[in-house]
Amino acid sequence: MQTLTTVSAMQALAATLGTAGRPVGLVPTMGALHEGHVSLIRLARDRGAVVVVSIFVNPTQFGPSEDFTRYPRNLEADLAACAAAGADVVFAPAVEEIYPKGYSTFLAEEHVAKPLEGVSRPVHFRGVTTVVAKLFNLVRPDFAVFGQKDAQQVAVIRKMTADLHFGVEIVTAPTLRDPDGLALSSRNRYLTPQQRAAALALHQALHRAQSMVAQGERRVDRLIAEATHLLSQQRLVRIIYVAVVDRDSMESAREVLPGRSLMAIAAWVDEVRLIDNEIL
Ligand code: PAJ
Repeated sequence: MQTLTTVSAMQALAATLGTAGRPVGLVPTMGALHEGHVSLIRLARDRGAVVVVSIFVNPTQFGPSEDFTRYPRNLEADLAACAAAGADVVFAPAVEEIYPKGYSTFLAEEHVAKPLEGVSRPVHFRGVTTVVAKLFNLVRPDFAVFGQKDAQQVAVIRKMTADLHFGVEIVTAPTLRDPDGLALSSRNRYLTPQQRAAALALHQALHRAQSMVAQGERRVDRLIAEATHLLSQQRLVRIIYVAVVDRDSMESAREVLPGRSLMAIAAWVDEVRLIDNEIL
């Protein structure tokens, strides 16, 4: 496994990667890797690809009051996890490589990015689309893998990729969960045992909505009312949103379309902001 830290080294390598006759797969991450990230790397490897993992805590996708400075960083452990999962290349640049002094170009998707996360984190997706576009330009992958855990992120990136003719296939990987249902997240390490127990309500609410749909319920207001009720029974949980939206457009509807509609939840568990979602 090769580790690169500069833009020029990544560009030089990218020019040769595609010539090996194997597809090039990119797995963008912010590090603090857990089994969810590892499943994305394995998915790329299982497609027979040369796998490039990027590790970059992207400052432009964090709001001024968010956790950029205290976001967990552990490059050594991350490199070991990448090697064990079968990555070929790790690209781990410093902030100044990606955003040198005087940097001033940003890219924003302006429809799918607006609701849900876009409401409470107004600069978030602009930062995500900017850095992912830069990674696409630097690595020139045939495909890139993103987790369904961040459903709106996948939808925004699909839209950006289509709108800008990037010619990169966007592959979505299923959400990896702990046995009790909690979606794996780098932010879970902020949780105390008591907060972690309360956080289980997110998955329980999604699961309840899924069973209601399986039993024939199609009214979105009923699903949201039930999920809200379950979440509000947890004293430590404060709801940011509970929504049922189309999985591609992120637009809300009054009726569930099974397989197309997604319930998305964001909530504070004390001071930790968590998101989760399930297709209904
Ligand atoms: P990060 O939060 O590190 O996540 C990297 C990738 O791992 C994302 O595609 C995310 O959806 C996926 N992922 C996270 N938890 C997962 C889980 N439990 N199961 C499966 N996949 C999971 O998302 C980002 O970084 C950044 O926004 C990034 C795309 C790298 C741009 O900076």
